[in-house]
Amino acid sequence: MRHVRYALAAAALALAACGGASDEAATRPSAAASGERVFSQCAVCHTAAPPDQPAAKMRLIGPPLFGVVGRPAASVPGFKYSRAMQASGLVWDEATLDAFLENPHKLVPGTTMSFAGEADAARRAALIAHLKTLK
Ligand code: HEC
Repeated sequence: MRHVRYALAAAALALAACGGASDEAATRPSAAASGERVFSQCAVCHTAAPPDQPAAKMRLIGPPLFGVVGRPAASVPGFKYSRAMQASGLVWDEATLDAFLENPHKLVPGTTMSFAGEADAARRAALIAHLKTLK
């Protein structure tokens, strides 16, 4: 029983630490750098490498995100997008990315991206700053 309580306390501490880090992300000049860390939760499903690098050839669940900022939705040749994404008519500018990353299923109902959303605006901003460097 005591072990359980210690584990819970440790988890609470870890959560508190995460919250602090995201507040910092808003003010730190290098949002792209912290965005790169946040991106690790995307990297299980998305590659970020330039097309000429071996890492870009990895077949993951999601489409490659290199060059995504400014690109029309569902435009990577050969990737099997959902019908919802194909019909979305979106272009991935900052505002659209922000809305999608906050709640993918709200912006694109029927999307197959199984990601609940990033509620923290500072972390989304950091992510988008990082995505902009992928070009
Ligand atoms: C569990 C896997 C998974 C995770 C985690 C995930 N994605 Fe996705 N993502 C997908 C899939 C699958 C699609 C294609 C969705 C569709 O066709 O409806 C997608 C699509 C996208 C698109 C549209 C790309 C295009 O070419 O139109 C963007 C942008 C995107 N994801 C960004 C992210 C970011 C940033 C994160 C991290 C915060 C993330 N995703 C996390 C699976 C994932």
